[in-house]
Amino acid sequence: MKILITGGLGFLGSNLSHESINRGYETIIMDNFFREGTTLNYNWLKEQGDFTLENKDIRQWYDIEEMIKKYKPDVVFHTAGQVAMTTSLNNPRLDFEVNALGTFNLLEAIRKYSPETMVLFSSTNKVYGDLEYIKYVEKETRYIAPDYPNGFDENLCLDFHSPYGCSKGTADQYLLDYNRMFGIKTVVFRHSSMYGGRQFATYDQGWIGWFVKEALRIKSGEIEGVEIHGNGKQVRDVLHADDMVNLYFKTVENIDKCAGEAFNIGGGMNNSLSLLELFGFLEDELSINININKKPWRCSDQKVFVADVGKINKYAGWKPKISKEEGLRKMIKWCEEILGE
Ligand SMILES: NC(=O)c1ccc[n+]([C@@H]2O[C@H](COP(=O)([O-])OP(=O)(O)OC[C@H]3O[C@@H](n4cnc5c(N)ncnc54)[C@H](O)[C@@H]3O)[C@@H](O)[C@H]2O)c1
Repeated sequence: MKILITGGLGFLGSNLSHESINRGYETIIMDNFFREGTTLNYNWLKEQGDFTLENKDIRQWYDIEEMIKKYKPDVVFHTAGQVAMTTSLNNPRLDFEVNALGTFNLLEAIRKYSPETMVLFSSTNKVYGDLEYIKYVEKETRYIAPDYPNGFDENLCLDFHSPYGCSKGTADQYLLDYNRMFGIKTVVFRHSSMYGGRQFATYDQGWIGWFVKEALRIKSGEIEGVEIHGNGKQVRDVLHADDMVNLYFKTVENIDKCAGEAFNIGGGMNNSLSLLELFGFLEDELSINININKKPWRCSDQKVFVADVGKINKYAGWKPKISKEEGLRKMIKWCEEILGE
């Protein structure tokens, strides 16, 4: 098997690259080192085994076509992207060119030069917009959506908000359409929040990683509290990187059933967590007290997103295995490691 991972030095990408190398597959990693941490992930991957690096920019259609022509991979995991909502507001053109045009470049290259290649894409739950039309009830530590006891399934209306929502949503729809119109084996994962090793979280992206690092700084006496947007009761179902890796490889095994489909992906209801609940967990685990400084809500921030993972379970037999407690303890270890470097 020959696997090409776009964005293969990022968080999702380096975890997928690692698994591909471990399985002994021919692994091609494509990345332009845009994201902080990519050089560290590159050096780490070199210690894990053999792969080929393609230092390319997904926005350069000619380079992408040459790359697809050269390798004709069996599988592409397409994770390259501009990932921060805030960056998309500051620089909508960059966001569009990387996420929308970059994905289009890849799909066109595959259609023209390697139509048997399957493409699995990391989309986002942001394609459903802010979901303000849903009824929420405010509880002590979180919002709940009482009409959706198992979470949200794929029948929610698409409703792109923000440049990031629009660029990812455009890519998401192109993926599905290249299956409909050209028979390319494409799969769309609409991800909720993910976390785990090889993630270099920032204030703007990767909230679990960011707040775990902040909690460790509180423990070391460097800072006293955290800054949040909103009241901290917003909920996401968090998915650990190991479960994400398992999802992508399981879907490849079940491509005949999954091609042309979009799936809501997350840790599911049992692994849902609000900011306040995360802080409570970190306070107990690290024996600290976290002071909270509340800022206005971020635009288009969903009060709740919990994925109903029933469809992917039916199509590919996948469900998350790592509990949020186990995953968060691993995350604390990973953040201790990177803060210590
Ligand atoms: N992490 C999450 O919780 C989450 C949630 C929903 C969706 N996603 C999606 O998953 C994908 C991967 O996210 P991640 O968390 O691994 O982010 P990441 O920033 O760690 O990885 C993205 C990678 O893409 C690379 N990249 C950026 N611009 C590029 C370009 N022009 N050409 C080539 N490579 C480029 C970066 O250098 C980086 O290595 C993204 O598309 C993101 O939108 C992630």
